[in-house]
Parts: sequence; C-alpha cells; structure tokens
Amino acid sequence: MNINELNKKVPLFARSEENIWTDPYVAKQLLTAHLDEQADGATRNKVFVEKSVEWLTDQFPVTEYPKILDLGCGPGIYAEKFCRKGYQVTGLDFSQTSIDYAQQSAELQTLSINYVCADYLKADWQKERYDLIFMIYCDLGVLSHQGQRCILQKAAQALNPGGKLVFDVFTPERYKDFVPTQTWQIEENSFWSVETCLHLQESRQYSRTYLDAHHLIYQDKQKTFYIWETVFTPEEMIQELTTTGFKEIEVYKSIAGDLWGADDETACFAATI
Ligand SMILES: C[S@@+](CC[C@H](N)C(=O)[O-])C[C@H]1O[C@@H](n2cnc3c(N)ncnc32)[C@H](O)[C@@H]1O
Repeated sequence: MNINELNKKVPLFARSEENIWTDPYVAKQLLTAHLDEQADGATRNKVFVEKSVEWLTDQFPVTEYPKILDLGCGPGIYAEKFCRKGYQVTGLDFSQTSIDYAQQSAELQTLSINYVCADYLKADWQKERYDLIFMIYCDLGVLSHQGQRCILQKAAQALNPGGKLVFDVFTPERYKDFVPTQTWQIEENSFWSVETCLHLQESRQYSRTYLDAHHLIYQDKQKTFYIWETVFTPEEMIQELTTTGFKEIEVYKSIAGDLWGADDETACFAATI
C-alpha cells in the first residue's frame, strides 16, 4: 500500500483502474441491486419504474417515437417494458454481467430487444438514428464534463429531427447536508469483496462534483474505485443543452414526470433536436 498516494487529493474526474460496473465481483452485487424491486439501488424501486414507464410512454407515444435507445440500460428493466409497449428498443451498457442477464431475460420472454455491450463514451452509437434516447437514473452526472458533452453531442447526432433526449440528474439539493468522510473497516463477504480486506472509504467535495472513493487493501494487491457525481441546477443543464443545439427543453421533477420544484433532489430534462 502506498500511503503517499492515498494521502494525495485525487484530481477531479481521475479514473480508477477498477470500475464498479465492470469489476466482475462488484458488477454481480450491482446486478442483485438492479433486481431488488424494493430498493433504489442500481435501478429505482418497482413502483417508481412503473410510474416512470407509464409517464414516458404517455408523453412520448410509440406512434410518434417508435425507436428508442436506452443508454446504460443495465439488465433491461426499462427496455423490456418499452418493448412490451411496442417500441423498437436498443439497450446499450458496458457491464457484460448486465447485458448477459438482459439477453437471457429477453430470450426467455421472447422479447425482441437489441442489446449492445459497449462503452457509450467510446462506441459509435451516433451512427444509427433514434426517435428517443433515454439515460435513466442520473447517469450523465457520473461522467466528467468532457464525457457529459460527448454524450449530449452524440445524442444530438443520433436523434431523428424532432427526436428527444430524456434523462435525469441530481440537483444540489441532493448534497445539501454533505459532510466529507474518511472511514475504514476490515470486511469479507461484503458488497465490495468476498475475501478479507481493509476497506478505506473517502468522500470529498469538488465544488459541484462529489467523489466517493473506495480502496480495498489485500495482502498481495489493492483495488481502487472512484465514483464521481456532478449535480446540476436546471438552468445550468438548459444552458448546456442549448449550446449543444437542443431546443424546447422541458424540465420535470423526475424521470416519472411531475412539476419541478426548488426542493427536488432530481431534475429530468426532455430536449428536442
Ligand atoms: C445507475 S445504473 C442505471 C441503469 C438503468 N438505466 C436503470 O435505471 O435501471 C447505470 C448504468 O449505466 C451503465 N454505465 C455506466 N457507465 C457506462 C458507460 N461508460 N458505458 C455504458 N454503460 C455505462 C452501468 O453499467 C449501469 O448499468
């Protein structure tokens, strides 16, 4: 373990070698979290998801918007529901664990969904055309500013004229009581590790961005996970979307609709190209 490295402030948006969504062990824990219908884990709870699908499909009917791209689709919980409502759905995610589950689940239910295992920052999904692009559960905010712009620009290219990009973000309200922490524990058979390890955790604020860092120290190796999250006010996001060429930007309380209010921890945007 390099104590000096641990003691340095992590540069903003630095990428850790490990990623929670692609690390084989943590990705399995996250699949369990996705499938837990009671909790707002990797997917929101079942009641919210159902309300969300009803609102999205009401607002953007299949007759006008037949072709959907679900960016960061996870194990396909939303994708399956859109497919059942008659949309032509592509789900893209870089977690092989989630995509394998999604493909098997679709096959079992004879649902025709096009799943792609790829990194949405690197893959050329903007070469296809869609009527709706969804990014659900505040995924845009986990990216660097450069990554966020990359997604908005690719989405602008990938949408048919009149098509919509619909996504949610966390607002500053989410972190209004934020307190930086540094904690440690010895653990095994936990969310993070099956083997015994020393788990060091740190949370830190960088203006509107927050870092949740986890270091797992083993006898013979170390694993590090950085999880970044940037929060946005609606004004900031509207500005970003407008700069990218989006128009008619609507703001809602969440990806399940409702009017936005200043106390809300999330905001949802539906932007037209
Ligand atoms: C919070 S989960 C939300 C999953 C899904 N949208 C839902 O609400 O059920 C974030 C998803 O984005 C995926 N993801 C994160 N970064 C990605 C990237 N760079 N490329 C593709 N998928 C990514 C993760 O694997 C994960 O499935």
